[in-house]
Order: sequence, then C-alpha cells, then structure tokens
Amino acid sequence: MGSRSRGGRSSSGLLLLSLHLLLGLHSSLRCFVSAAGGGGSGEPYVGVTIGTAVTNLLSPSDLAAFLRAQRITRVRLYDADPRLLSALASSGARAIVGVPNDELLALGSSPATASAWVSRRVLPFAGANSSSPGLISAIAVGDEVPTALPSALPVLLPAIQSLAAALAAANLSSIPVSTPLPFSIVLDPFPPSQAYFNQSLAKSFILPLLSHLANTSAPLMLNLYPYYSLMQSSGVVPVDNAMFKPLPPSLEMVDPNTLLHYTNVFDAMLDAVYVALKNLNVSAPVPVLVTETGWPSYGDRKEEPYASRDNANTYNSNLIKHVVTDKPGTPMRPGAQASVYIYELFNEDLRPGPVSEANWGLFHGNGTPVYLLHASGADGFLGNATTDRTFCIASDDADEKAVQAAMDWACGPGRSDCTAIQPGEGCYQPNDVRSHASFAFDTYYQSQGKAGGSCYFQGAGMVTTTDPSHDSCIFPGSKLYSNATKSDGANTTSSQTSDAEGSAIWRLRTGRGEGFLLVFRFLLSVMVVIMTNSNLWT
Ligand SMILES: *[C@@H]1O[C@H](CO)[C@@H](O)[C@H](O)[C@H]1NC(C)=O
Ligand SMILES: *[C@@H]1O[C@H](CO)[C@@H](O)[C@H](O)[C@H]1NC(C)=O
Ligand SMILES: *[C@@H]1O[C@H](CO)[C@@H](O)[C@H](O)[C@H]1NC(C)=O
Ligand SMILES: *[C@@H]1O[C@H](CO)[C@@H](O)[C@H](O)[C@H]1NC(C)=O
Ligand SMILES: *[C@@H]1O[C@H](CO)[C@@H](O)[C@H](O)[C@H]1NC(C)=O
Ligand SMILES: *[C@@H]1O[C@H](CO)[C@@H](O)[C@H](O)[C@H]1NC(C)=O
Ligand SMILES: *[C@@H]1O[C@H](CO)[C@@H](O)[C@H](O)[C@H]1NC(C)=O
Ligand SMILES: *[C@@H]1O[C@H](CO)[C@@H](O)[C@H](O)[C@H]1NC(C)=O
Repeated sequence: MGSRSRGGRSSSGLLLLSLHLLLGLHSSLRCFVSAAGGGGSGEPYVGVTIGTAVTNLLSPSDLAAFLRAQRITRVRLYDADPRLLSALASSGARAIVGVPNDELLALGSSPATASAWVSRRVLPFAGANSSSPGLISAIAVGDEVPTALPSALPVLLPAIQSLAAALAAANLSSIPVSTPLPFSIVLDPFPPSQAYFNQSLAKSFILPLLSHLANTSAPLMLNLYPYYSLMQSSGVVPVDNAMFKPLPPSLEMVDPNTLLHYTNVFDAMLDAVYVALKNLNVSAPVPVLVTETGWPSYGDRKEEPYASRDNANTYNSNLIKHVVTDKPGTPMRPGAQASVYIYELFNEDLRPGPVSEANWGLFHGNGTPVYLLHASGADGFLGNATTDRTFCIASDDADEKAVQAAMDWACGPGRSDCTAIQPGEGCYQPNDVRSHASFAFDTYYQSQGKAGGSCYFQGAGMVTTTDPSHDSCIFPGSKLYSNATKSDGANTTSSQTSDAEGSAIWRLRTGRGEGFLLVFRFLLSVMVVIMTNSNLWT
C-alpha cells in the first residue's frame, strides 16, 4: 500500500474566508491527454483514486471487473503493482501510477535506479509492444512531499527528471511525470487575488519544478480539499459553498481586488493557485490536474461534524457535475476546467487516524456502495448514475428549530403546497419535523426551477441527488412523479419571497458569533463590491 501520507491535507494555514485552492487548466490538459497517447477527446474527466488499506481487498481481476461495471476509466494508484496493472490492462482503464515516498531517495539519487524502475514498472505496460499501450497515463512521483516527507524534497525534482529521462530513452516521453503537491503550499488563499506560494519553497523547489513541467508538457498535480478548508475555518466558510451548493447572489464570496464572484470553494482554491503561479512570473499557463479531492461520509460526531453521507454525496455529485457537465473553469480561467480524481474508490478501513480517515470511499471494500452517488450526465461514470435530478431536503446539520422555522416559511410566505404532509396524506408518515420539512423544501425548490438560493432556507436546506421519495410519498421532481400525484399550486414565483429570504439570510449570517471577525472581514469585502458598484452605476 505504499507510504502514502495525508499529513499535508490538514496542515495549511487558512486565513480569512478560508478558501484554499488549487488549479487546473484544461486547455493544457487537452494537450496532456492527447500527448499521453489516446485519451480521446481531451474533455475534462473524473477519475478515482484507489488506496489499498482495505480488509479483503478485491483481487486484481475482480477489481478490474468492478471498474468496468462502474464504467470508471481513470484511476490513480499509489504505487505500480504489476499484478494490479496486468489486471487493469484488460479493463480499458487508464492509470496514474505512483512512486511511494519511501522510494524517492533511491530514485532521486541514482539515475540508474530510476531507469531500472521504469524498465520494471512501466515498460511492460506501456509502449508499442505492450498489449496496453495507453494504460499508464502519468507517473506521480511521491505524494505531498513538502509536508509528508520534507527531507526528501531535495531529491524530488532529480527523481522526476531521471524518470522522465528514462521514459524518453524508451520512446515514452508522452507519459508525463509530475508530483502531487498539497494545497498548503499556497498561502493566504482567500481572497484568491492575494495568494502566493510559501516563500521558503518558491525559489528552491517550486520554480525549478514548474520549469521542468513546462519543458516536458507535464501537469502540475495538486491535492485539493474544500472539506479541510471548511474544517479549518471555525465555522466561517459556508458549508454550502464548500459543497458547490448554490447561494443567493448576495451571499456569494467576492474577491474585492478582482470583483470576481466565487460560487464554490473549489474554484476559489484553483484561482488562488493561478494567482500564486502568476506571482512567480510563470508565463506559460501550466495545466493543473487535481490528483485528489473528496469528502468523508462518516467521522467523529463531535470533531468531524461535516463528515456525513449526505454531504459526501452532495460534494462528490456536484463535483462530477461541475467537472464533466458544466465544466465552467474558474472565474479567472473560464473554460479551462481541470480534471479531477475523487479520493477515493474504497473506504480504507485499515487506515489509522481520525475516524474520517477510514471513510472517504465511494464503496466499501467488498464493492457495495457506501452511498448512492447519482452523477448527472457524467457519461455513465459510476455505472448506473443516470439522473440529473436534484432535490432539496432538510440538512443533517441544521438544528430542529431552524428546520421548523424554515418549513413554516416555505408552507406560509413561500406558498409551497404542503397538503401532502397533513395528517392522513401520503407524506404525513414519518411524522417528524425533518421529514415534513424536506417535502416542503423540495416543493419550494422545484417550484422555483431549482434556482440558486432556493434551497437555502437559512442554512436548513441541502441539495441532494438522491430521490427522497418513499412509500406512497412522491417528492416533486421525482421521476416517480406522475399525473396521479401531481399537485397544483407549486407555481409561485414572486420577488417578494426572494427578498424576504435574502434578508433573513443576512440576519442569520451576521448574527453568528463565532468567527465574527472573519465574517465581518468577508462582509467588508462584499461591501466594497456593493459600494464600487454603486459608484459605477449611479
Ligand atoms: C516489438 O516487437 C517486434 C516484433 O516482435 C520487435 O521486432 C521489436 O524489436 C519490438 N520493439 C521493442 C521496442 O521492443
Ligand atoms: C524510438 O523511436 C525512434 C523513431 O520513432 C526509433 O528510431 C527508435 O528505434 C525508437 N527507440 C526505441 C528504443 O524503441
Ligand atoms: C513554508 O514552508 C516551510 C518549509 O516547508 C515550512 O516550515 C513552513 O511552515 C511553511 N510556512 C507556512 C506558513 O506554512
Ligand atoms: C527547461 O528548458 C529550458 C530551455 O531549454 C532550460 O533552460 C531549462 O533549464 C529547462 N528547465 C529544467 C528544469 O530542466
Ligand atoms: C516578477 O516580475 C516582476 C516584474 O518584472 C518583478 O518585480 C518580480 O520580482 C518578479 N517576481 C519573481 C518571483 O521573480
Ligand atoms: C448497475 O446496474 C447493473 C445492471 O442493471 C447492476 O448489475 C449493478 O449492480 C448496478 N450497480 C450499482 C452500483 O447499482
Ligand atoms: C398522464 O396521464 C395520461 C392519461 O391518464 C397518460 O396517457 C399519460 O401517459 C400520463 N403521463 C405520464 C407522464 O405518466
Ligand atoms: C409556472 O408558471 C410559468 C409562468 O407562468 C409557466 O410557464 C409554467 O408552465 C408553470 N409551471 C407549472 C408547473 O405550472
């Protein structure tokens, strides 16, 4: 299983509104993919990382069959296990293979060792004479070395260069060689316009690395976790923003220097990376590949409150939609959508550490899903994911009073049809606040055409891709919805209700005690924009 370390994930100094970042460019990913020999169209894609600290891991051949069944065609491995690669060769998948951190020293100090590694690990699965010329899509040398194994930093670039040279000697320079970096090397990521690389790494390591990557058309690999930005922000980062959930425009994060609006933390992290690159005077736009991102589905109740199945489902589903369907790029680099690898395929139950460490997987080790991820329009990624339907339900994280108040609003001023949750009606059971509120929220959300902000409910609502319908209770927006159950009156759009909701949200946000200073600074940045606008328009 290699020496993977995720220490870098939680070590960054996040400031302000807590955006971290990462970057990604897909015009260059395009080159990367086509240069890498047959990836096809060069469209942004979603892959999955495969860690192996799993009890009774599927055999290599079962794993290959499983990937085929789930239509997963891009994977990242943390080593280059020949048994697994042999099996994958028949699955049609393409794999990033890894050099574990504990092999860096040997490879970085001896070009001959690097060359032997390529002969043993890569050549059998690549090149004109192998049966799977496209199997290996890239080589990831080490993982988060600046934080996980800083002592190996001096040999990291030499290792990359030796491996690239060995590949070139074998006519395989089309396989890019890079190293996944932790986002924590980017400091002051929010607002993104102020980001910069850690100065103690910039000249000695990052600049030469970027020069080599540019020379070899290899991407900058980054592990990017909005989840950790949220966790480290002491409640200041809106959880919705971290999960790509729409916020009302008035609540969007705005970078006061660029006036760019950020609808999600992921894009802000990427833009911070772009800014940091620009501050190094890196002229060529280096393509970025997100080699890890994800969300845990379970964690310590007290310490890791955002680790829940609903949140993991929401983040990963929205991520897939963002990358594969919407592919907007970032506010600074519109259209340049980075490809991503979801961390991770299986729950690694053998991983030590916080409870969440063992709960990042989409599937249990035996291949049963941890939660049903419905990835819209993702070219069949994850097999049966077919729906782009989303629903609005009561959030796990909101307290019951807030849920009740929001339901009262939805069924009252919001004019949702709440007949179905009255006694004797189809959605009365189960008779509890959250179930009833979910129906009311979804009714409102669907009636608003799922408009941005219409599932906010002062933080009590959350978007899900899992159809919440049950028994005889069919939620609006469900494909189970038929003539027979259609309710009328769901068609109320009025600017008054939106305004009412908006101002309530402002009250709630500004009323949060904890981290008030940070919120205040954020609000100031918003106000700068508002004031700037009024200067412009009046
Ligand atoms: C590939 O196979 C052919 C025929 O077996 C052989 O002539 C050629 O030398 C091989 N090329 C490489 C690079 O191994
Ligand atoms: C590499 O490719 C060149 C030309 O395409 C060819 O002449 C040479 O023999 C190849 N080398 C190997 C090791 O396959
Ligand atoms: C910058 O990098 C150095 C060397 O890796 C590290 O010791 C330091 O803590 C980092 N600074 C910040 C603010 O993260
Ligand atoms: C990249 O290429 C340029 C020009 O050929 C060269 O000067 C530079 O040293 C190369 N960078 C690295 C890290 O090899
Ligand atoms: C980038 O270029 C600017 C203007 O030429 C210069 O002032 C600055 O020091 C350069 N930054 C780096 C990191 O080289
Ligand atoms: C996807 O559908 C196939 C065929 O209908 C089924 O065998 C498989 O178990 C399904 N996979 C999941 C994850 O539901
Ligand atoms: C709606 O009902 C009509 C008449 O009962 C039927 O012909 C039609 O197929 C139904 N539509 C749907 C979407 O079920
Ligand atoms: C809602 O109202 C709009 C505009 O009046 C109309 O176009 C739409 O068809 C209505 N939708 C439903 C479900 O009645």
